[in-house]
Amino acid sequence: MALFCLHSLAGAAQSRQDILLTNDWKFSKGEMPEAARPGFDDAKWPTVSVPHDWAISGPFDGNNDLQKVKIEQNNEQAATQKSGRTGGLPFIGTGWYRRKLVVPEFGPGKRVVLLFDGAMSDAHIYINGQEAGSWPYGYNSFSFDITRLLQPSDNLLAVRLRNQSEASRWYPGAGLYRNVHLIVTDDVQVPVWGSYVTTPEITPEFARVKLRTKVATPGNSFQNLRLETEIRDASGKVMATTSTTLLPTDGQEFEQNLVVPTPQLWSPETPVLYTATSSLFAGSQLKDEYRTRFGIRSFKFEAGKGFSLNGKTRKFKGVCNHHDLGPLGAAINTAALRRQLTLLKDMGCDAIRTSHNMPAPELVELCDEMGFMLMVESFDEWKTPKVKNGYSQYFDQWAEKDLVNMVHHYRNNPSVIMWSIGNEVPDQSTPGGGKIARRLQDIVHREDPTRPVTAGMDRIDAAINNNFASVLDIAGFNYKPAQYEKANDKLPQGFILGTETASTVSSRGEYQFPVVQAKQKQYPNNQSSSYDLEYCSWSQIPDEEFVKQDDLDFVIGEFVWTGFDYLGEPTPYDEKWPSHSSYFGILDLAGLPKDRFYLYRAKWNTAAPTLHLLPHWTWPGREGQTTPVYCYTNAPSAELFVNGKSQGRQTKAPSDQPQSRYRLMWNDVKYQPGSIKVVAYDAQGKAMGEETVRTAGKPHHIKLVADHATLAADGQDLAYVTARVEDANGTLCPEATQQLQIAVSGAGRFRAVANGDATSLEPFQQPRMHAFHGQLVAIVQASDKAGDIKLAVSGKGLKAGNLSLKTTAPAGK
Ligand code: GAL
Repeated sequence: MALFCLHSLAGAAQSRQDILLTNDWKFSKGEMPEAARPGFDDAKWPTVSVPHDWAISGPFDGNNDLQKVKIEQNNEQAATQKSGRTGGLPFIGTGWYRRKLVVPEFGPGKRVVLLFDGAMSDAHIYINGQEAGSWPYGYNSFSFDITRLLQPSDNLLAVRLRNQSEASRWYPGAGLYRNVHLIVTDDVQVPVWGSYVTTPEITPEFARVKLRTKVATPGNSFQNLRLETEIRDASGKVMATTSTTLLPTDGQEFEQNLVVPTPQLWSPETPVLYTATSSLFAGSQLKDEYRTRFGIRSFKFEAGKGFSLNGKTRKFKGVCNHHDLGPLGAAINTAALRRQLTLLKDMGCDAIRTSHNMPAPELVELCDEMGFMLMVESFDEWKTPKVKNGYSQYFDQWAEKDLVNMVHHYRNNPSVIMWSIGNEVPDQSTPGGGKIARRLQDIVHREDPTRPVTAGMDRIDAAINNNFASVLDIAGFNYKPAQYEKANDKLPQGFILGTETASTVSSRGEYQFPVVQAKQKQYPNNQSSSYDLEYCSWSQIPDEEFVKQDDLDFVIGEFVWTGFDYLGEPTPYDEKWPSHSSYFGILDLAGLPKDRFYLYRAKWNTAAPTLHLLPHWTWPGREGQTTPVYCYTNAPSAELFVNGKSQGRQTKAPSDQPQSRYRLMWNDVKYQPGSIKVVAYDAQGKAMGEETVRTAGKPHHIKLVADHATLAADGQDLAYVTARVEDANGTLCPEATQQLQIAVSGAGRFRAVANGDATSLEPFQQPRMHAFHGQLVAIVQASDKAGDIKLAVSGKGLKAGNLSLKTTAPAGK
């Protein structure tokens, strides 16, 4: 065994190289067909590194992708100008990326593949002036074998991308916003996404692991090949091995069955992973080494019982997220994703819907590692358009290819629990829509029979009437809690999923009086109140969904719209520039929690106490006026004190208002400066915690809080540093709006800044921004040299904040 391991690992270095093409790209916007040619002069183009979003540095402008549209799914009756619908950023047009391609050890017997994790959009790839291939859908991953186009020495890789206007309902990003891989192998190899692992039988004593591994040979000719596979657990211990010979009757695919003893099961709470390493031999020669990471878990969706994972019934506590990373735009960054997932984990969230398109592989891998269940979604439209130049133009020719790539890419990831074939596609109500749903679902089942298929439906009656909803493995409804019972009565599946829920709108730190529940509410400052009572004509407050989730066993969970605010879709201010990012997020565009975070946390995070008070308590001019106080807590009751005087005890209890079950509310409190304090009591009446919010004095200093203090010196790692404007006693000044200047020195650089204000036109990429409700978040990026990073944030009349971060060489360097 020891020999076998050494042999395969020693050979691995030569047999397969996966090189990220990160640096030394030249980039320019513009129509330049000749840019595909090797001799084209790009000396004046700026050099960029990939992942790269060409539009995120702005400037913002309401005329960028200005759309005059009637949004049917929002029940609009007439077309109006929507200025910030796709974020107001300059992503429209053609862009070119060019780069020298040096392929290590290229020569006869080698095979070279380019794998794009995603390119926005309509990608055409050229090698030495010849087109290697194209892929229109900007969210999907795709690869091309470029061996035949390569020369032995220098090669020129050029990528042409094009973004159309009126092609999206949110900010899509622009450019090579995900990683590009150069994969060099022998010509006998395991192709991209060439393995498929399933676990057909799981018992406490053993798990059967079935691994199918494709091989590619020159001309697809039969060769005598052998595949040696070993499965290791997370600590590296070998759990199972096998060796299989390919027979002429096997085609180009190995099938191996292995047994892992006493399997440790994957779940959000125990994200245990295994790795299968397969060594491909032709005779005694090692040709390829291929790794497949996977998890062992079982799940069921059953009529009358709902969803269970590893035998335990549970409901999805999920959020929908768009792909952008706020101030970083669409450019993928693992540290940014990890921060998002860390925040969601703390909220008790256990599932994510990748609305409304294929995610980046980094997200799926992090979900495997950190424990989130994924609904991987494919499309926002099929044949019938929602936007003039959307995916419908490609649907007939590309839908199957797009689904196949999506499924092949992610079918080994244990986090992926279900596939979604679409979101609110208008074909729900077109004749034959049910048949399209069936065809797409069949494609997904053909490629992965182990996972169910869903779709987010909004036209509930139409979808039921034309069999669209009954065809799906899982009927998913968007914003229909009041109709779950009716739908379940009519549909055959026996359970229903809230694929998209709530769409409550709020701005962090913003409170409006009087406090009233309201639909499509607008204020002159283009903000939404954070009492969590404002929603859209088609949506609800969180509590309405909670009631159904709690009371109906056949409802198997929800995916809240959305976890994080995103660029574009600034409902309820779709027509009111400068609004250009969403108000739906539980966390804002900077990743700072809004009050709603604690409402969900109180319900979802059953392992830790939640006790949160709102609003802030600095209201000069509101003395004596009614200023309701809410408490979001998992305690059943609490007593409120204003300047020490009891305002009485409130207990959660059902009433005709759903929120009375989930929030403690004191609606008649009169404001007076000082403090509010809440004391929470458990079911036995024992005090279990208290929380105080104080009136702030004058802004005095800037406090800096980093999400982590030690970074990897890998040129990619990020620290998110919250800058808070505080008074002399350390109380947040909730109305502070000072412009703050950010200076970074040492082993890192300033990357971006955000304040969560959906109306702010300040660029994310300049090291200054106004605080929004007293806060902003500065993002610092590590360089590739280990050392110290110094961050200083200053503002007029404020004592500056200073912070030191450390970077250390990443493992293996
Ligand atoms: C849904 C749609 C989402 C988003 C949301 C806003 O109808 O699926 O993409 O637009 O509304 O509430």
